[in-house]
Amino acid sequence: HHLSSLHGVFFSCFASKSTLQTMCSRVWFVTDRRISQEYPQVQILRALKERCADEDVEFRYLLMDQIVLTISQGQLGLRVEQELVTSYPQVVLVRVPTPWVQSDSDITVLRHLEKMGCRLINRPQAILNCVNKFWTFQELAGHGVPLPDTYSYAGGHDNFRKMIDEAEPLGYPVVVKNARGHRGKAVFLARDKHHLTDLCHLIRHDTPYLFQEYVKESHGRDVRVVLVGGRVVGSMLRCSTDGRMQSNCSLGGVGMMCPLSEQGKQLAIEVSNILGMDVCGVDLLQLNDGSFVVCEANANVGFIAFDQACGIDVAGIIADFALSTLPSRLTRKMSLLSVVSSTSETSSEPEVCMVNAGGGSLPEAVCNMSVGSSSSESDPELAEPSQSSPRRSPASALSDLPDLPDAAYNFNNLLANEIKLLTE
Ligand SMILES: Nc1ncnc2c1ncn2[C@@H]1O[C@H](COP(=O)(O)OP(=O)(O)O)[C@@H](O)[C@H]1O
Ligand SMILES: [Mg+2]
Repeated sequence: HHLSSLHGVFFSCFASKSTLQTMCSRVWFVTDRRISQEYPQVQILRALKERCADEDVEFRYLLMDQIVLTISQGQLGLRVEQELVTSYPQVVLVRVPTPWVQSDSDITVLRHLEKMGCRLINRPQAILNCVNKFWTFQELAGHGVPLPDTYSYAGGHDNFRKMIDEAEPLGYPVVVKNARGHRGKAVFLARDKHHLTDLCHLIRHDTPYLFQEYVKESHGRDVRVVLVGGRVVGSMLRCSTDGRMQSNCSLGGVGMMCPLSEQGKQLAIEVSNILGMDVCGVDLLQLNDGSFVVCEANANVGFIAFDQACGIDVAGIIADFALSTLPSRLTRKMSLLSVVSSTSETSSEPEVCMVNAGGGSLPEAVCNMSVGSSSSESDPELAEPSQSSPRRSPASALSDLPDLPDAAYNFNNLLANEIKLLTE
């Protein structure tokens, strides 16, 4: 038996090697010129270049505006810099600035690549699911995923006015968000009906808003979970520093690595799977009983703050995942799995790290994130890391989250001060 399984291993390696020789693996990285110099894109480019060079995979870096889409003689094709592309990639890693994504421009390029048979990371449909916050919730609804009650409408000033009455069942204060908002900039907490009526005349109505149940106990706090290939790579507790509801780092929020409960972990995985995401950031709000509800999901997740807080190289994990989806790798993986199911497969699988089951929100590492500008989603990517490695905090100081909603504000102040002290 032993001998025959050894023979199987030998045979399968031999078979996959010949598959590799006949098929040249190609990976592209496609991004938008406007975000090409930001941290995630720079890091992903670095990681992909390194790995492709190591593993003999042909690599090409392209900006969205360099690609010309063609249909000639009834066939889809591509041109780059006035040259016909003759060898197509099997895998294309995509970074598009979700707040600006338009179906008629960026998505057209991605559809074209997908229809030509390329495996896109993320797929265009998954990106679209996150372009509009209400679309995300439409996708998630009906799957048993805990969501705060959320209403929306067909846009425009007059309809917003009508919504003020229609949204009465959500109670006050109520959270109002622009469906296309990002970085916490188009989210506010409306005190009462009059407040909403006053604001109705001041806000832009080119995109509709959604009205959402206020998760009071999570005021100024949320948990950012980053997932790659449907696996949790880490989680970060974010906390506002000025009493405001939004915990976004781009608004001065601070973040630290935190363990995630099994429910939080499963919830984030479910969200990622339902939305069809390969790479995503899921924001979770925590209720008094410690359980989580979904706040939002980001297709173009930023990770400068996350890398710092968790001491993880998210770009490296993304690049490993991208290479693991190459047909040659899948073939190898399958042949190995079919012969020796007990042999542990190393290398290209993304690592699951730092996320423990059980326990509450117990921060383990701290980092300070300064305000940034720019575009990839809700987090600053231009900000320089203030620490190169995660810092350990005295767990006791931060271990008890408040039970009472009223304590949340004071607690956030305490927590934010603690984080600042630790990072000074
Ligand atoms: N329903 C809610 N209840 C309490 N806090 C919320 C709620 N929705 C959002 N927040 C807070 O506001 C922040 C920004 O909201 P989010 O929906 O993530 O928009 P953005 O895309 O601008 O980041 C969240 O990170 C969270 O801290
Ligand atoms: Mg957010």
